[in-house]
Amino acid sequence: MMNDGKRICLTGFMGVGKSSVGRHLAQILRSERMDLDFFIEKNERRKIVDIIDNDGIEAYREIESSNLQRLLDENSAQVISLGGGTWTVPSNREFIKNKGLTSVWLESTFEHCWYNIKFSHKERPLARDKEKAKKLFEDRKKIYCLADWHFIIKPEYSSYDIAKLIHDEYFS
Ligand code: S3P
Repeated sequence: MMNDGKRICLTGFMGVGKSSVGRHLAQILRSERMDLDFFIEKNERRKIVDIIDNDGIEAYREIESSNLQRLLDENSAQVISLGGGTWTVPSNREFIKNKGLTSVWLESTFEHCWYNIKFSHKERPLARDKEKAKKLFEDRKKIYCLADWHFIIKPEYSSYDIAKLIHDEYFS
């Protein structure tokens, strides 16, 4: 397999499948994967929902940025699943680029993301209200599209299918 230590980060809206696609992709590559949300909760010893609800979203973004830097400096995982807002911070985008990662925007419809949000166990403080979440979804499209790649998820794709397609296109 010719993957030459290439590194990829997955961005896109909450519920699009960044974590599950990342997990499958790392399995296919037999490489390590990191989930930024998980990394933050482990290092901060707090749940993201607790940070956002108690310290506010701006404080959370700072914590997220310093954890992103730490993760990319310390860890050589080939696949990194970002949080849905990580890519919206310009300095994070710059940092990711400078570290040589390829960014991939996983795009799906709002309804698909919302369905996953509703049925997931993960608490998402920025997606408690459907109308607000929909607005955030629309506002963020113009930022997600700054990613190196744009991968459109068709409804019939499973997260394994998506991982396999990304793998075949980019890593083989
Ligand atoms: C956020 C997305 C969440 C998490 C936090 C903020 C966002 O990650 O980082 O609740 O701003 O979109 P997921 O996209 O993995 O749900």
